[in-house]
Amino acid sequence: MRDRQCVRAFLNQPVSNDTIIKILDAAKFAPSGVNTQPWNVAIVGANHQQKIASAIISARENKIPDNPDYDYYPQEWVEPFKARRKACGMALYGALNIQIHETEKRKEQWYRNYHFFGAPVGFIFYIDSRLSMGAWIDFGMFIQNVMLAARAHGLETCPQASLAEYPDIIREYLNISPLYHIVCGMAVGYADWSAPVNQYRTTREEVETFTVWHD
Ligand SMILES: Cc1cc2nc3c(=O)[nH]c(=O)nc-3n(C[C@H](O)[C@H](O)[C@H](O)COP(=O)(O)O)c2cc1C
Repeated sequence: MRDRQCVRAFLNQPVSNDTIIKILDAAKFAPSGVNTQPWNVAIVGANHQQKIASAIISARENKIPDNPDYDYYPQEWVEPFKARRKACGMALYGALNIQIHETEKRKEQWYRNYHFFGAPVGFIFYIDSRLSMGAWIDFGMFIQNVMLAARAHGLETCPQASLAEYPDIIREYLNISPLYHIVCGMAVGYADWSAPVNQYRTTREEVETFTVWHD
């Protein structure tokens, strides 16, 4: 858990289907309420990654508003989350030596999301929309399992809410029924540790800041 970190640049080294299956075969042992197992995973290779990236980037460039199936972030940021979000962005752009006013460079970096950061494998996670909020807890546990199992196979990951910004595009290109909500994506591959973007770590608050003991 401590060793997992988001990786946003990958080696051009393929990941075998066998490895992908092993990761998902372990992750599926996540708990879920009454064992509903609400997870679905689309495994996206280079060809479909390219199509998805082109379609989303074109939507953004044409100022088509995003239309996610759910709100991942609040409309209005309050403390302490506002400050943490800011620190997160500063760390990322700091590692890339991109200044706050360099909007074009920041946009370029953001657009790399839609290419799954160049990872050989992309996952798109999707959930039956008839389930309730609780199923999203289960799904989160599955996603964490995927990331930890990936590490056990020498792989790194980056979960990506950005890939849920235009769910209709994802559903169209991956032939997913409108019955499903797009949860998020994930880049999966072997890390390029020489890339500057992979050379910083985010911090965490101390345990005392989020715990209350009751005897
Ligand atoms: C569900 C989820 C969605 C995320 N979406 C994105 C994303 O679209 N792009 C991105 O670069 N990072 C994304 N992140 C990564 C977070 O920024 C990252 O987890 C956080 O900064 C903590 O850093 P660490 O994962 O390296 O420990 C996402 C994380 C989660 C859990």
